[in-house]
Amino acid sequence: MYIPGYHNNVAKNAFTAGLDASVYGMVRQTSSVKSWQFFKRQLGHIVKSIAAHKSPGDFVESLFPECDPLAIQKLLHEGYELAQNLERPDRGGAAGNWDCAIVFTITRLMIPNEVIETGTGIGATTFMALKGSPRVTESWPRGNMTYSVGVTTFDREESITDDDAIPYYRWEELPLGGVGQLVPEEDSDRVTFVLGDIRETLPEWIRDQRLSPRTPTKALVILDSMHTPEHQQFELGQLWPVLETGSVILCDDTTYGWTDWIGSYNNCGFLGGIRK
Ligand SMILES: C[S@@+](CC[C@H](N)C(=O)[O-])C[C@H]1O[C@@H](n2cnc3c(N)ncnc32)[C@H](O)[C@@H]1O
Repeated sequence: MYIPGYHNNVAKNAFTAGLDASVYGMVRQTSSVKSWQFFKRQLGHIVKSIAAHKSPGDFVESLFPECDPLAIQKLLHEGYELAQNLERPDRGGAAGNWDCAIVFTITRLMIPNEVIETGTGIGATTFMALKGSPRVTESWPRGNMTYSVGVTTFDREESITDDDAIPYYRWEELPLGGVGQLVPEEDSDRVTFVLGDIRETLPEWIRDQRLSPRTPTKALVILDSMHTPEHQQFELGQLWPVLETGSVILCDDTTYGWTDWIGSYNNCGFLGGIRK
């Protein structure tokens, strides 16, 4: 169900965005006792997150204390400007401008081996990760070598209103049409779309990539699919053991599921972050 006043507000206001998961969590719970418990925990999470809120600059600095704060500010502003100029359809739950700027800045600072994203949506965060990791060409005696960071991004195959009840943009036209429509044509060769229910595709993909605690990957992980505590914990549980030290996980619209798992309130608005 699409509620114009509510959904427009959620898109613009960080506080209502944080309440988003709570409201839908309540609606979704069947028993009133469970519903009340959920609400109490989520409300506690929201209050503590607001109390611990960091500005975008302080948030990135907390993850990368070794980096020059002025360089961080410069990157954040470059990213914010890019995000402001993105063409956003009115639905699709795309990340806000500061969240986008943070994705851009962190990709640039850490230069990961790869980016793993759950919840492609229209592709705002995918776009920012791509722009944060431009192709690099080096001269070698036998010619030029070009390196680039690949992005693997997960979403559904079909449009759906899920447990979080958000009516996502219609996916009839798949990659580069509905899902991932903001991915620039010139960067599409760097993007792998994995379509289907993440609860199945994510463990399958980890197996196919032969990732394990003994063969981990240095990745920037962006969790932005279903914003329920159970789902955020599921994704964390799958990815955390196969990440190399130095990897970063960002989670949009954190719930108590994130803070219980991560044990920290390091957040900018409701974007949570941790560096392994
Ligand atoms: C908030 S939107 C992502 C926004 C996107 N990161 C951006 O900035 O444009 C969440 C996306 O997660 C997808 N999603 C939610 N639950 C999913 C699941 N269980 N499996 C696959 N995709 C899921 C939805 O289809 C939706 O496109």
